[in-house]
Amino acid sequence: MDPAATVPHVHVGATSDLILTLAGDEAAFTPEGRALVRVMLTGTDPQWAQAMARTHRHAVPHARLRKWSVWQFLLRLADEEPRTVRQLIVPGAGWSPLAIDWLATNPHARAWELDIENVEAKRALVQKHARGVAPRWRNRPCDAADPGAVSSALSGSGWDATQPTTWVMEGLLYYIAPAAAISLIRTALASHPDSRMIAEVGLPYDSIHQPAGDACRDYHDQIARAIGRDHLHTHQPTELAAACGARVEAIMDPATASRLRGDSPPAFVHPLDSTQRVVLLAPAISLG
Ligand SMILES: C[S@@+](CC[C@H](N)C(=O)[O-])C[C@H]1O[C@@H](n2cnc3c(N)ncnc32)[C@H](O)[C@@H]1O
Repeated sequence: MDPAATVPHVHVGATSDLILTLAGDEAAFTPEGRALVRVMLTGTDPQWAQAMARTHRHAVPHARLRKWSVWQFLLRLADEEPRTVRQLIVPGAGWSPLAIDWLATNPHARAWELDIENVEAKRALVQKHARGVAPRWRNRPCDAADPGAVSSALSGSGWDATQPTTWVMEGLLYYIAPAAAISLIRTALASHPDSRMIAEVGLPYDSIHQPAGDACRDYHDQIARAIGRDHLHTHQPTELAAACGARVEAIMDPATASRLRGDSPPAFVHPLDSTQRVVLLAPAISLG
């Protein structure tokens, strides 16, 4: 049965329930993050998410491998350019424990989350269940499709725009139209020449092997219908980066991630078995 048919309309914030339901404990990398995942999973209403997870089996390894890929890129930046990861901004953070994980691992880091939904509820959970890192964590309501709103939400929040920042956008660009996505990435990377962005993008469905491309389109169409949109947005990472004045420093696909993790059997064998890509972007030119 089409899970979207059982729930006529859900808010876009429910897509965050979906990712947490799919990734479960693998959404987090520290005891602090895992503790938060457990209370968030019981504190929300994941009915639609559970129905989607049952219907789309590929979605579980996708969610887990993308979390793992984002975390590897953060570790790589911490190793190669530690200044860039002392400030983390996570637009479309949803229920993700990523910022809490990062703060728990990096005592000098600070993090800001932005979202249009569930902001107050997440703040209450972080303050109650991640007390050790909560003073270095902020979240703000903000429409990330409006770069002006992003700047205003961050101003006066303690973010130091004169210092490098790593922006993480996971599962967000599907919901933001291309022109606004370009503008958001430009604004983010313009903050400092050493800033970085880790972004998940979905490739166009017909650019990968079939039937995997069709399965992904079907999954995305069901999400789009449930939240009252025509479709979700896809991108070619190098074209997107070029349009933003950015360069792709690294790119990870689920087949490579699965192999590097030593998954047996791997969930994906060939890079073109999945539309999912996690890219690490840097400013290519002065964007200021
Ligand atoms: C698929 S969830 C991903 C959540 C989280 N980043 C993760 O990967 O676990 C998408 C999130 O983006 C948020 N979102 C969608 N459109 C947004 C917008 N225009 N501005 C800010 N957040 C948005 C939703 O509310 C939701 O929390």
